[in-house]
Amino acid sequence: MPSNSSASRRTVLRGAAAVPVAGLGLAACSAPEGSSVAATPTAPVDLGTEGEVAKGGAKLYRDHNVVVSRDRNGALKAYSTICTHAGCPIDNLQGTTLICPCHGSEFDAVTGKVVHAPATQPLTELAVKAANGRIIAGPAD
Ligand code: FES
Repeated sequence: MPSNSSASRRTVLRGAAAVPVAGLGLAACSAPEGSSVAATPTAPVDLGTEGEVAKGGAKLYRDHNVVVSRDRNGALKAYSTICTHAGCPIDNLQGTTLICPCHGSEFDAVTGKVVHAPATQPLTELAVKAANGRIIAGPAD
């Protein structure tokens, strides 16, 4: 029965081909599960008291996907913490270095620049100011 044998072999081959397709894991470069709402503020947001960001330091505001840093002269800088590599929200700040959980890119929270690949583009700079003792950050003008 050659026809049955051939059909049987095709079925086996089709079954074998389906396994690697299902296991490709193409989501490796997308944002983690449940983070599809992660975004940079589209309007100015009150992040908290000005004293939370020390001179020469930085603070990560995870709820708003913003990092604020302050240089030695007291000037504030703010950046979106949506990774420029594949869009993951960055949730780890070590000193003034941001570390992306998805593929390990690192950024300088003072300059926004990439300090470790795979990202190649700096973080998006935001407008930031201190008003009445509060830090307000939002989209750049
Ligand atoms: S999304 Fe790939 S390193 Fe951040």
